[in-house]
Amino acid sequence: MIKILKMREKQMNLSVGVDIEQVARFRKKNKRLFQKIFSKKELKSMKSCNAQHLAGIFCAKEAVIKACNPMEKLQLRSIEIFSRKDGQPYAVIKSRLVKARNLRISISHSKDYAVAFAIVAIG
Ligand SMILES: CC(C)(COP(=O)(O)OP(=O)(O)OC[C@H]1O[C@@H](n2cnc3c(N)ncnc32)[C@H](O)[C@@H]1OP(=O)(O)O)[C@@H](O)C(=O)NCCC(=O)NCCS
Repeated sequence: MIKILKMREKQMNLSVGVDIEQVARFRKKNKRLFQKIFSKKELKSMKSCNAQHLAGIFCAKEAVIKACNPMEKLQLRSIEIFSRKDGQPYAVIKSRLVKARNLRISISHSKDYAVAFAIVAIG
């Protein structure tokens, strides 16, 4: 019995978020809108500013907001999405309650749509 309780204690609670967007929304380079969504650091680090990539990053931010919602209400600009050398995306967040190390994201896109998932481990 004690063993089962200890195993349960070790289990993490997960919260998930998902978002889907039309790539077309990101074809026109609307500077004011982009400044609202992306940080300077993000724009500088992007390997390309193509609409699919931008839509994927936007989706990832929205997915993180949804996944973190039970703990904290985050804003788009408090989440930054970057890519590792191998292309894998990761999130950096300004949050009191959610640590970036407990967050995982995944992005996919086609010609017309981008989609992203986020998972946060709580506790
Ligand atoms: C990384 C990989 C999974 C991306 O899949 P894809 O179908 O080409 O592209 P998707 O639209 O689904 O996903 C693209 C996004 O995946 C993410 N991504 C890229 N590399 C990644 C990696 N190593 N790990 C996790 N996510 C990755 C990025 O966010 C990327 O978006 P971006 O290009 O705008 O930055 C794929 O290129 C790959 O390496 N597959 C392994 C199998 C393989 O080698 N297949 C080819 C021969 S059959």
